[in-house]
Amino acid sequence: MTRYAHITGWGMAVPERVLTNQDLEKIVNTNDGWILDRTGIRERRIASKTDTTASLATQAALRALHGTGVAASEVDLIIVATCSPEHLFPATASIVQDQIGASQAGAFDLLAACTGFIFALNMAAQAVRSGSIDTALVIGSETLSRLVNYQDRSTAILFGDGAGAFLIEGRDWPGGVLSSVMRSDGSGGELLSIPAGGSYMPTTLETVRENMHYIQMNGREVFRFATRVMASATREVIEEAGMRVEDISLVIPHQANLRIIEAAARGLKLPLDRFVINIERYGNTSTASIPIAFCEAWDQGRIRTGDNLVLVGFGAGLTWGALAMTLTERERPLKVDGRRSTLLVSRARLRSIGRRIGRRLDSLIFRTSSRPPD
Ligand code: COA
Repeated sequence: MTRYAHITGWGMAVPERVLTNQDLEKIVNTNDGWILDRTGIRERRIASKTDTTASLATQAALRALHGTGVAASEVDLIIVATCSPEHLFPATASIVQDQIGASQAGAFDLLAACTGFIFALNMAAQAVRSGSIDTALVIGSETLSRLVNYQDRSTAILFGDGAGAFLIEGRDWPGGVLSSVMRSDGSGGELLSIPAGGSYMPTTLETVRENMHYIQMNGREVFRFATRVMASATREVIEEAGMRVEDISLVIPHQANLRIIEAAARGLKLPLDRFVINIERYGNTSTASIPIAFCEAWDQGRIRTGDNLVLVGFGAGLTWGALAMTLTERERPLKVDGRRSTLLVSRARLRSIGRRIGRRLDSLIFRTSSRPPD
């Protein structure tokens, strides 16, 4: 039987501390007008001493599970996409696995910079569709503020911290992840990197003195690359999914620069209101930006079940990718391919219902989707 990878839960977590453009004016030679005009960013969230990439990821993951009837112990796989992992190893995903009590899950990190969430979602969806696993958590989580040199105005203004997570479940009715593209061009690696701290250039007093442990970026070249790939990757996944651009309800792009999103909209001949944009409040949260934008769009009622969506991003590597999906109901829809069908639930869902039945009878009301807690 054909399996489909459905997105059935989602959640986000951002630190409380806000760093505004006015705050940055006091730290580095920049100004609110320039930042807003050139990037669309007004403020970003910054991790407190107790926030870490794993703690934000854990909160987002628990919110993604909340209300779905799936217990952490039923999750088969956890992928954390991040470019600010807690350590070189162990993987941040292993810490999350332990913190949420996902006792049956394999866990690993995926590094494809800001495109990481799309790559991870695609990998998890492939594993679910193959039948080798049934349930996966895909998380994008970052504390990039720890890797930014706040004396470097070209990067200090851009990045913020946060996390977002999707729960993916296997179903035997169509929907969920429909198509995807994953691309890289390693020849552009030097355009955006953290040169020191890996095995090629281990940390020394010298590398620290030279600020080589911070993000280094050629903004103009990254900008040029991004505007080239966003529209083309979006078009590619739409075609592969057998749809037309007009069939897409919303595009959820990586939030790196408002002007990059505007260029993608022009390239696709789509009005800007078909794009989810929240860069103004969070800046670039790298792997977390797409799931955070998704969660906010859902809360605002901009996404409904049945909608066709495209997620699209780019980042260091260079990497870029896109993914088309339909947000479907958690339980078997009453109509599948035009035929009326009986409401069936998966075995995992039945087990979970059995456990919860004594506690909350009202939880038996079939949800059409899950919501992160307010
Ligand atoms: N505040 C004030 N002025 C600044 C500034 C800042 N933070 N950063 C640069 N400037 C100045 C420059 O010194 C330059 O001045 P000059 O013309 O007198 O020399 C001018 O603004 C233009 O600089 P430039 O680097 O060409 O700016 P830009 O329009 O390309 O914007 C970025 C810079 C970084 C915002 C933009 O290139 C960008 O967003 N690139 C993509 C980066 C990205 O998305 N990275 C993450 C990928 S996942």
